[in-house]
Amino acid sequence: MDSLLLGGSVFEVARPRLAGFRRRRSASLRVMAQAGEPDLSVKVNGLEMPNPFVIGSGPPGTNYTVMKRAFDEGWGAVIAKTVSLDAAKVINVTPRYARLRAAGSNGSAKGPIIGWENIELISDRPFETMLNDFKRLKEEYPDRILIASIMEEYNKAAWQELIERVEETGVDAFEINFSCPHGMPERKMGAAVGQDCDLLEEICGWINEKATIPVWAKMTPNITDITQPARVALKSGCEGVAAINTIMSVMGINLDTLRPEPCVEGYSTPGGYSARAVHPIALGKVMQIARMMKEEYNEGQSLSGIGGVETGNDAAEFLLLGANTVQVCTGVMMHGYPLVKKLCEELKDFMRKHNFSSIEEFRGASLPYFTTHTDLVKRQQEAIKQRKATRKGLQSDKDWTGDGFVKESESMVSN
Ligand SMILES: Cc1cc2nc3c(=O)[nH]c(=O)nc-3n(C[C@H](O)[C@H](O)[C@H](O)COP(=O)(O)O)c2cc1C
Repeated sequence: MDSLLLGGSVFEVARPRLAGFRRRRSASLRVMAQAGEPDLSVKVNGLEMPNPFVIGSGPPGTNYTVMKRAFDEGWGAVIAKTVSLDAAKVINVTPRYARLRAAGSNGSAKGPIIGWENIELISDRPFETMLNDFKRLKEEYPDRILIASIMEEYNKAAWQELIERVEETGVDAFEINFSCPHGMPERKMGAAVGQDCDLLEEICGWINEKATIPVWAKMTPNITDITQPARVALKSGCEGVAAINTIMSVMGINLDTLRPEPCVEGYSTPGGYSARAVHPIALGKVMQIARMMKEEYNEGQSLSGIGGVETGNDAAEFLLLGANTVQVCTGVMMHGYPLVKKLCEELKDFMRKHNFSSIEEFRGASLPYFTTHTDLVKRQQEAIKQRKATRKGLQSDKDWTGDGFVKESESMVSN
């Protein structure tokens, strides 16, 4: 299996210019990986986590209370809700979510929730308040990984002020939100940057010039080729890529009122789609990025898989494609913070089944099995040829011979 791995244990890179870059393995993390048990711990860009499960930026990381809860329940890391310098410009509406349900087993419309649309903006809490929350969390949980998600307007000084002030709180890394598909692009933020490689390169330059902790660039799936911005972000010095953010969507039209959902004062705006329904799309995008990284950037850059994770098996799929960590957002909104315990147990079950003792043993193992359609056709034609060549028995009655008659008879017996 070794030869299939995505660069073995390469995803550990130091930001050479890092000042307060921490490399530590706390006693509490060691205790979590018990002898004989599959070891879920991961080390990503020098950051040590007890397991690969990371709270994805959104409501599950909006304030001190909920982020503390995530650490207490055992999440591997927490990415806070995206912050910017001036929260006064962020004005949310309610309702801001709409859900899609699968049909129930009896044909009713009340089956499980499979899709979730939101028109929520980034954090509307005052920047200072969020900074205090980060500081307090890092004081109380110095060994746990807290990642700040940030976003700013097209202004170098503002980006660099944001980075400086957030870094002062002691957070371990940044995730840059280049991917929110609604509201923010109207201000040339979020997906407006992730969809424009020139703008992305310029802003990544500003960020990486200033940041002294690892930087992950969070990508939008609302683009023809996600490898293009991912490549630009890595080329510009980001240590990692995270994908995907939500998919631009319209949840539906209310057939009684003829108004779109989620409906705010009779109107709506396209939003971001998440939850189980986006998982195959997220796997496709992560696979594309992983292949690009393996071919061009296999120097320790990391990959974080996001989209529709609710089970340990969903997470195993991202890891098999080469992801180092797996983020969960809507899953936490539906099932609560204890979900991490189920995710860990299910991932361990998967590892036991295959005798894997660590995540690195299988990370990226499925990636080499993607190829082009033309190659699939070639492989199938070769396989058919081989099967025919080794086919047992005679092809036709004309092939019976006198000398080999007994052997030829035996070659067609089934027992
Ligand atoms: C209600 C809601 C709010 C979100 N807010 C943010 C945000 O502030 N910043 C961000 O980078 N992503 C945000 N996201 C996107 C998620 O982090 C994640 O990328 C996406 O929802 C797909 O993962 P999931 O299916 O596990 O939710 C939000 C998602 C939801 C559902």
